[in-house]
Amino acid sequence: MDLKELLNQFKADLKKISSLQDLEAARLKYAGKKGLVAKALEEIVNLSAEEKKAVGKKINEAKQEIQTKIAELQDKLSGAPSATALDRFVKTLPGKKPMAGHLHIISQAIEEIVEIFKPLGFTRVRYPEIDWEYFAFETLNIPATHPARDEWETFFIDAAADKQYGRQVITPHTSNGQVREMLKGELPIRMLSISRCGRRQEDVNHLQTFFQFEGLAVDKGISITHLKGTLDYFVKHFFGPGRQIRLRPYDFRFTEPSFEIDINCDLCRGEGCKFCKGGWTELGGAGMVHPNVLKAGKIDPNVYTGFAFGWGVERTYMMKSGTKIDDIRYLLNNDLRFLEQF
Ligand code: FA5
Repeated sequence: MDLKELLNQFKADLKKISSLQDLEAARLKYAGKKGLVAKALEEIVNLSAEEKKAVGKKINEAKQEIQTKIAELQDKLSGAPSATALDRFVKTLPGKKPMAGHLHIISQAIEEIVEIFKPLGFTRVRYPEIDWEYFAFETLNIPATHPARDEWETFFIDAAADKQYGRQVITPHTSNGQVREMLKGELPIRMLSISRCGRRQEDVNHLQTFFQFEGLAVDKGISITHLKGTLDYFVKHFFGPGRQIRLRPYDFRFTEPSFEIDINCDLCRGEGCKFCKGGWTELGGAGMVHPNVLKAGKIDPNVYTGFAFGWGVERTYMMKSGTKIDDIRYLLNNDLRFLEQF
């Protein structure tokens, strides 16, 4: 066979090959001991010495080309770098830096919150994000018919109600963990429950899905000063030493007395500006655990008292970032142009 024809046929055959098995068959057909190249070499025995030399050289070149192409395809099919690719590899060229990610800013905030509360003895726990009305409301001193339930803008799961526990809900707050923690029967309690919550609301300050962190301390002799000291400690560590809190009377059914906790505005430092209300911004709710809640958790309110607080992770983080985040929904959009700023 003419050498050119042989090479053309080889190249056409190579294009059709998609497995190592077919490649081996092609190797035997062309470059094997009894292959077409060997046959071509046999055919030159009758040529003159000069012709033998010239044609033999061409056949050898063709053989080399065939072997290189077979080796390259073999590496490609088996996923290994080919000898020629390695030859072209320049060790001194600087490599391409792989894109390095980082934890989402809310995950970072959660880690930071956990670390701040750790030295005070608070341990992170997790309670169901889909829970019964019983733990989300009933045990928190909010019976089925109480209008306070409306404030929690609850998502109900379309499932049959349980006789004792009621319907299933996407928990609208982490306070569902309070009585669950008490029912473990281990006292004293220093709980830090961080979970996703859901509410039927969405605007610049509200998400349908958001995180809350809930602190609960139950012990003998716990008073409001412990609550204030704990929150003051947290705020100074999370926001900076110059920050202060104030307790503003409020009304939650599960704490008595109840407070909204405000922090002095970072921008105007108490003077009053367009980003705060008279020098203060609202952080979240807190209070002394209501005796009915302790009773639901099988704890004697005549012996034990406790405090609780529940704040939104996203809102707390937004306040730390000053005016950088003016719409809470940015935090969930997963837009790298936004996330890479942090
Ligand atoms: C509660 O949820 C109470 N369970 C807090 C509490 C716990 C009070 C223990 C007393 C004792 P409130 O509805 O105010 O309270 O929500 C608390 C915080 O969660 C808010 O200040 C806010 O930071 C955050 N939050 C509430 N709803 C949303 C929402 N839709 N999107 C983002 N953050 C929210």
